[in-house]
Amino acid sequence: MAVYVLLNQKGGVGKSTLTVNLAAVTAEATQEPDTENQSVLAVSVDPQGSATWWSERVDDLPFVITQEDNPETLRGLSDLTNFSSIFVDTPGWLGAGGDDPMIKVLMEAADLVVIPTLPQPLAFDPTARTVEVVQSYGIPYVVVINGWDPRDGKASLTDTQNLIKGQGWPLAKTVIRQYRIHTNAAAEGRVVTSYPDNKISFNARSDFQKLALELATGRW
Ligand SMILES: Nc1ncnc2c1ncn2[C@@H]1O[C@H](COP(=O)(O)OP(=O)(O)OP(=O)(O)O)[C@@H](O)[C@H]1O
Ligand SMILES: [Mg+2]
Repeated sequence: MAVYVLLNQKGGVGKSTLTVNLAAVTAEATQEPDTENQSVLAVSVDPQGSATWWSERVDDLPFVITQEDNPETLRGLSDLTNFSSIFVDTPGWLGAGGDDPMIKVLMEAADLVVIPTLPQPLAFDPTARTVEVVQSYGIPYVVVINGWDPRDGKASLTDTQNLIKGQGWPLAKTVIRQYRIHTNAAAEGRVVTSYPDNKISFNARSDFQKLALELATGRW
Protein backbone atom coordinates (compact mmCIF):
# COMPACT_ATOMS: atom_id res chain seq x y z
CA MET A 1 0.00 0.00 0.00
CA ALA A 2 1.30 3.45 -0.90
CA VAL A 3 0.28 6.87 0.44
CA TYR A 4 0.69 9.77 -1.99
CA VAL A 5 0.33 13.32 -0.66
CA LEU A 6 -0.41 16.03 -3.22
CA LEU A 7 1.22 19.23 -1.99
CA ASN A 8 1.99 22.73 -3.21
CA GLN A 9 1.61 26.02 -1.35
CA LYS A 10 0.47 27.58 -4.60
CA GLY A 11 -3.26 27.49 -5.21
CA GLY A 12 -4.72 26.28 -8.47
CA VAL A 13 -1.80 24.09 -9.57
CA GLY A 14 -3.94 20.94 -9.83
CA LYS A 15 -3.66 19.27 -6.42
CA SER A 16 -7.36 18.35 -6.39
CA THR A 17 -7.44 17.48 -10.10
CA LEU A 18 -4.48 15.13 -9.74
CA THR A 19 -5.82 13.57 -6.52
CA VAL A 20 -9.19 12.69 -7.99
CA ASN A 21 -7.95 11.52 -11.38
CA LEU A 22 -4.97 9.54 -10.10
CA ALA A 23 -7.37 7.84 -7.69
CA ALA A 24 -9.75 7.10 -10.58
CA VAL A 25 -7.20 5.54 -12.96
CA THR A 26 -5.53 3.59 -10.15
CA ALA A 27 -8.90 2.26 -9.02
CA GLU A 28 -9.78 1.26 -12.57
CA ALA A 29 -6.54 -0.71 -12.81
CA THR A 30 -6.59 -2.34 -9.37
CA GLN A 31 -10.23 -2.90 -8.50
CA GLU A 32 -11.14 -6.59 -8.14
CA PRO A 33 -14.21 -7.35 -10.25
CA ASP A 34 -17.42 -8.44 -8.51
CA THR A 35 -16.53 -7.07 -5.12
CA GLU A 36 -17.83 -4.19 -3.08
CA ASN A 37 -14.39 -3.60 -1.53
CA GLN A 38 -12.77 -0.62 -3.17
CA SER A 39 -9.01 -0.61 -3.68
CA VAL A 40 -8.33 3.13 -3.62
CA LEU A 41 -8.98 5.80 -1.00
CA ALA A 42 -8.84 9.55 -1.61
CA VAL A 43 -8.63 11.81 1.43
CA SER A 44 -9.27 15.53 1.32
CA VAL A 45 -7.70 17.47 4.18
CA ASP A 46 -8.63 20.74 2.47
CA PRO A 47 -11.43 22.40 4.47
CA GLN A 48 -12.70 23.81 1.15
CA GLY A 49 -13.31 20.19 0.19
CA SER A 50 -13.17 20.59 -3.61
CA ALA A 51 -12.14 16.97 -4.15
CA THR A 52 -14.97 15.84 -1.88
CA TRP A 53 -17.56 18.08 -3.52
CA TRP A 54 -16.42 16.88 -6.96
CA SER A 55 -16.32 13.17 -6.05
CA GLU A 56 -19.76 13.26 -4.45
CA ARG A 57 -21.20 14.44 -7.77
CA VAL A 58 -19.81 11.42 -9.66
CA ASP A 59 -22.07 8.43 -10.30
CA ASP A 60 -20.35 5.08 -9.68
CA LEU A 61 -17.28 6.71 -8.19
CA PRO A 62 -14.52 4.08 -8.57
CA PHE A 63 -12.81 4.94 -5.24
CA VAL A 64 -13.71 5.89 -1.67
CA ILE A 65 -13.52 9.60 -0.77
CA THR A 66 -13.33 10.98 2.71
CA GLN A 67 -13.04 14.49 4.12
CA GLU A 68 -10.80 14.82 7.17
CA ASP A 69 -9.85 18.00 8.96
CA ASN A 70 -8.48 16.53 12.17
CA PRO A 71 -4.78 15.54 12.03
CA GLU A 72 -5.21 13.10 14.92
CA THR A 73 -7.63 10.99 12.88
CA LEU A 74 -5.02 10.71 10.11
CA ARG A 75 -2.38 9.10 12.29
CA GLY A 76 -3.47 5.62 11.26
CA LEU A 77 -3.50 6.38 7.53
CA SER A 78 -0.61 4.10 6.62
CA ASP A 79 -2.26 1.22 8.52
CA LEU A 80 -5.19 1.11 6.08
CA THR A 81 -3.63 -1.77 4.20
CA ASN A 82 -6.92 -2.96 2.72
CA PHE A 83 -6.42 -0.18 0.14
CA SER A 84 -3.79 -0.50 -2.60
CA SER A 85 -3.24 3.25 -2.76
CA ILE A 86 -4.25 6.37 -0.85
CA PHE A 87 -4.17 9.84 -2.43
CA VAL A 88 -4.34 12.88 -0.14
CA ASP A 89 -5.47 16.30 -1.39
CA THR A 90 -4.21 19.25 0.63
CA PRO A 91 -5.02 22.98 0.78
CA GLY A 92 -2.64 25.53 -0.77
CA TRP A 93 -1.32 26.90 2.51
CA LEU A 94 -0.40 23.53 3.97
CA GLY A 95 3.30 23.31 4.65
CA ALA A 96 3.75 27.08 4.69
CA GLY A 97 4.62 26.92 8.40
CA GLY A 98 6.50 23.63 8.06
CA ASP A 99 5.53 22.41 11.54
CA ASP A 100 1.73 22.57 11.25
CA PRO A 101 0.24 19.45 12.93
CA MET A 102 -1.49 18.39 9.69
CA ILE A 103 1.68 18.55 7.60
CA LYS A 104 3.58 16.61 10.29
CA VAL A 105 1.04 13.79 10.31
CA LEU A 106 0.94 13.66 6.50
CA MET A 107 4.72 13.66 6.15
CA GLU A 108 4.85 10.75 8.60
CA ALA A 109 2.29 8.80 6.57
CA ALA A 110 3.53 9.68 3.06
CA ASP A 111 5.46 7.25 0.91
CA LEU A 112 5.77 9.90 -1.81
CA VAL A 113 4.92 13.59 -1.99
CA VAL A 114 3.66 14.66 -5.40
CA ILE A 115 4.18 18.37 -6.08
CA PRO A 116 2.12 19.58 -9.05
CA THR A 117 3.26 22.82 -10.63
CA LEU A 118 2.35 24.90 -13.68
CA PRO A 119 4.53 25.92 -16.63
CA GLN A 120 4.32 29.53 -15.42
CA PRO A 121 7.00 31.71 -13.76
CA LEU A 122 4.63 32.62 -10.90
CA ALA A 123 4.41 29.00 -9.82
CA PHE A 124 8.15 28.72 -9.25
CA ASP A 125 8.66 30.36 -5.83
CA PRO A 126 5.81 28.62 -4.00
CA THR A 127 6.95 25.33 -5.53
CA ALA A 128 10.50 25.98 -4.29
CA ARG A 129 9.18 26.66 -0.76
CA THR A 130 7.10 23.48 -0.89
CA VAL A 131 10.14 21.45 -1.97
CA GLU A 132 12.11 22.91 0.97
CA VAL A 133 9.44 21.82 3.46
CA VAL A 134 9.33 18.30 2.03
CA GLN A 135 13.13 18.06 1.97
CA SER A 136 13.22 19.10 5.64
CA TYR A 137 11.15 16.00 6.40
CA GLY A 138 13.36 13.80 4.20
CA ILE A 139 10.39 12.31 2.33
CA PRO A 140 10.78 11.19 -1.31
CA TYR A 141 9.06 13.64 -3.65
CA VAL A 142 8.53 14.31 -7.31
CA VAL A 143 7.45 17.45 -9.15
CA VAL A 144 4.81 17.07 -11.87
CA ILE A 145 4.11 19.66 -14.55
CA ASN A 146 0.36 20.12 -14.95
CA GLY A 147 -1.60 22.32 -17.30
CA TRP A 148 0.74 22.54 -20.27
CA ASP A 149 -1.18 23.58 -23.36
CA PRO A 150 0.40 21.88 -26.40
CA ARG A 151 -0.78 24.85 -28.50
CA ASP A 152 1.78 27.00 -26.60
CA GLY A 153 4.54 24.97 -28.20
CA LYS A 154 7.24 22.70 -26.81
CA ALA A 155 9.56 25.58 -25.85
CA SER A 156 7.34 26.75 -22.97
CA LEU A 157 7.39 23.22 -21.58
CA THR A 158 11.12 22.69 -22.09
CA ASP A 159 11.91 25.97 -20.27
CA THR A 160 9.95 24.81 -17.23
CA GLN A 161 11.49 21.33 -17.34
CA ASN A 162 15.01 22.79 -17.51
CA LEU A 163 14.29 25.20 -14.66
CA ILE A 164 13.12 22.34 -12.43
CA LYS A 165 15.95 20.00 -13.38
CA GLY A 166 18.42 22.87 -12.86
CA GLN A 167 17.29 22.97 -9.21
CA GLY A 168 18.07 19.26 -8.91
CA TRP A 169 14.43 18.43 -8.13
CA PRO A 170 13.13 15.05 -9.29
CA LEU A 171 10.72 15.67 -12.17
CA ALA A 172 8.12 13.25 -13.54
CA LYS A 173 8.53 12.49 -17.24
CA THR A 174 4.76 12.58 -17.62
CA VAL A 175 3.24 16.00 -18.25
CA ILE A 176 -0.47 16.51 -17.58
CA ARG A 177 -1.71 18.49 -20.52
CA GLN A 178 -4.30 21.23 -20.26
CA TYR A 179 -7.71 20.24 -21.61
CA ARG A 180 -10.98 22.05 -21.16
CA ILE A 181 -12.63 18.74 -20.35
CA HIS A 182 -10.61 18.65 -17.10
CA THR A 183 -11.72 22.17 -16.17
CA ASN A 184 -15.37 21.24 -16.61
CA ALA A 185 -15.15 17.79 -15.04
CA ALA A 186 -16.05 18.70 -11.46
CA ALA A 187 -19.17 20.61 -12.48
CA GLU A 188 -20.18 17.80 -14.82
CA GLY A 189 -19.64 15.13 -12.16
CA ARG A 190 -17.04 13.21 -14.14
CA VAL A 191 -13.64 11.75 -13.35
CA VAL A 192 -11.16 10.98 -16.09
CA THR A 193 -12.28 7.33 -16.30
CA SER A 194 -15.85 8.41 -17.05
CA TYR A 195 -15.10 10.96 -19.80
CA PRO A 196 -16.96 10.34 -23.06
CA ASP A 197 -15.21 8.22 -25.68
CA ASN A 198 -13.35 10.50 -28.04
CA LYS A 199 -9.80 11.44 -29.01
CA ILE A 200 -9.42 14.29 -26.50
CA SER A 201 -10.72 12.17 -23.63
CA PHE A 202 -8.37 9.40 -24.64
CA ASN A 203 -5.38 11.78 -24.50
CA ALA A 204 -6.56 13.38 -21.28
CA ARG A 205 -7.00 9.98 -19.62
CA SER A 206 -3.72 8.57 -20.88
CA ASP A 207 -1.78 11.40 -19.17
CA PHE A 208 -3.14 10.26 -15.80
CA GLN A 209 -2.60 6.57 -16.58
CA LYS A 210 1.03 7.28 -17.46
CA LEU A 211 1.54 9.40 -14.38
CA ALA A 212 0.02 6.74 -12.09
CA LEU A 213 2.33 4.13 -13.61
CA GLU A 214 5.33 6.41 -13.24
CA LEU A 215 4.52 7.10 -9.58
CA ALA A 216 3.95 3.41 -8.84
CA THR A 217 7.26 2.38 -10.39
CA GLY A 218 9.14 5.30 -8.83
CA ARG A 219 11.28 5.90 -11.93
CA TRP A 220 11.79 9.40 -13.24
N1 LIG B 1 -4.68 19.74 -16.73
C1 LIG B 1 -5.69 20.61 -16.60
N2 LIG B 1 -6.41 21.02 -17.69
C2 LIG B 1 -7.42 21.89 -17.57
N3 LIG B 1 -7.83 22.44 -16.40
C3 LIG B 1 -7.15 22.09 -15.29
C4 LIG B 1 -6.07 21.16 -15.32
N4 LIG B 1 -5.60 21.01 -14.04
C5 LIG B 1 -6.38 21.80 -13.27
N5 LIG B 1 -7.31 22.46 -14.00
C6 LIG B 1 -8.30 23.43 -13.52
O1 LIG B 1 -7.58 24.46 -12.84
C7 LIG B 1 -8.26 24.84 -11.66
C8 LIG B 1 -7.36 24.57 -10.45
O2 LIG B 1 -7.14 23.17 -10.32
P1 LIG B 1 -7.28 22.44 -8.92
O3 LIG B 1 -8.51 22.89 -8.22
O4 LIG B 1 -7.08 21.00 -9.13
O5 LIG B 1 -6.01 23.07 -8.20
P2 LIG B 1 -5.63 23.02 -6.65
O6 LIG B 1 -4.14 23.01 -6.59
O7 LIG B 1 -6.34 21.91 -5.99
O8 LIG B 1 -6.19 24.42 -6.13
P3 LIG B 1 -6.42 24.88 -4.59
O9 LIG B 1 -5.05 25.22 -4.06
O10 LIG B 1 -7.30 26.08 -4.71
O11 LIG B 1 -7.03 23.73 -3.86
C9 LIG B 1 -9.55 24.05 -11.63
O12 LIG B 1 -10.56 24.82 -12.22
C10 LIG B 1 -9.24 22.83 -12.50
O13 LIG B 1 -10.38 22.32 -13.13
MG1 LIG C 1 -7.64 21.91 -4.36
